[in-house]
Amino acid sequence: MTSREVLAEELTKARDRTLRLVDFDDAEVRRQYDPLMSPLVWDLAHIGQQEELWLLRGGNPDRPGLLSRQVDQLYDAFVHSRTARVDLPLLPPADARAYCATVRGKVLDALDALPEGHPDAFTFGMVVSHENQHDETMLQALNLRSGAPLLDRGAALPAGRAGLAGTSVEVPAGTFVLGVDPVAEPFSLDNERPAHVADVPAFRIGRVPVTNGEWRAFIDDGGYDQPRWWSEAGWAHRQQAGLTAPLFWNGDGTRTRFGHVEDIPADEPVQHVDFFEAEAYAAWAGARLPTEIEWEKACAWDPAAGVRRRFPWGGAEPTSERANLGGSALRPAPVGAYPGGASAYGAEQMLGDVWEWTTSTLRPWPGFTPMVYEQYSAPFFDGVASGDYRVLRGGSWAVAAGILRPSFRNWDHPIRRQIFSGVRLAWDV
Ligand SMILES: [Fe+2]
Repeated sequence: MTSREVLAEELTKARDRTLRLVDFDDAEVRRQYDPLMSPLVWDLAHIGQQEELWLLRGGNPDRPGLLSRQVDQLYDAFVHSRTARVDLPLLPPADARAYCATVRGKVLDALDALPEGHPDAFTFGMVVSHENQHDETMLQALNLRSGAPLLDRGAALPAGRAGLAGTSVEVPAGTFVLGVDPVAEPFSLDNERPAHVADVPAFRIGRVPVTNGEWRAFIDDGGYDQPRWWSEAGWAHRQQAGLTAPLFWNGDGTRTRFGHVEDIPADEPVQHVDFFEAEAYAAWAGARLPTEIEWEKACAWDPAAGVRRRFPWGGAEPTSERANLGGSALRPAPVGAYPGGASAYGAEQMLGDVWEWTTSTLRPWPGFTPMVYEQYSAPFFDGVASGDYRVLRGGSWAVAAGILRPSFRNWDHPIRRQIFSGVRLAWDV
């Protein structure tokens, strides 16, 4: 397939998923499920608005588009906070769907007319990534929704393997290639570039993510009640927010997931913990969180060949035998479910299942150059933003396989836990 055909297919796949996530009546898609989230209808029209901006208006908001200027700016994420979006005069759901469809028709025509190998292909890939990232955000919103479930319990997953929780693999000291170049990864985003050599002391890293069963032991041992496991900022937040368990865990030992109340599977990676909880758990377990550089080495480096792998397991594309991605499972897979997805060092489930908190703040790699969407990364770099962000790695079950790479960097506030976030431990050697 030509890269144009791949992009057209990825655009269509993303749109199919988006439309499934808003396939509810008008009142439903206009609802705000939580102050942290936008109503679904905002995400929908914003997906179309960004697609039009980047692919049909050359990224120039002053260039007229299909919407009036007043309506267009309702979908500027930097102007309107998530909390406030529900009160905006948003496009009605039918209009939002029609707008997205019109934009998409023009975009596919533009893609058709794009010469093979043209540099603008990158921007199409960026738009695919954007839509898929919003699909994950909409899944976060749907998970926060109260009331009878709208979604089912999710697709079947492979069984786990016993005996892996709490085990680790060693990553010996040495250099590796951190980050990627456009030659190898044409659709990598600006903050993943450029590839450069990094030296990392020896460390151990969890073979699999921390499980619900392990987290239960932390709770039962009084982990949430003992300041000694927490950082000062973490303890202050734990007190203020009254944290006693991961988000969505109920007092009776069940959890609520997309409106379904169910037992908590002990062998499933823990989800919906914030950075401070992850840090406290790690301290209690006699470990620490990895840096994002350690994480990327454990995920992508092949020490025998002295090269990066495209994926932890090698060059083959992700499949349902290698990783839990794409969103249909609606939950992480039990640890040990993907022996075929192991990295060269033997770490499993590094892509998919849960985003993994790292100790790193978001910093540009040396030689960073902003992409066409200049505000994607730069406002969030350490020391630039008013906010405080920590990097998460590896993607969750909700991430589309087509946009995820070992170099992909996500970031969020350390107190956030509506995201599909979990923990992988690390240790000094
Ligand atoms: Fe966006």
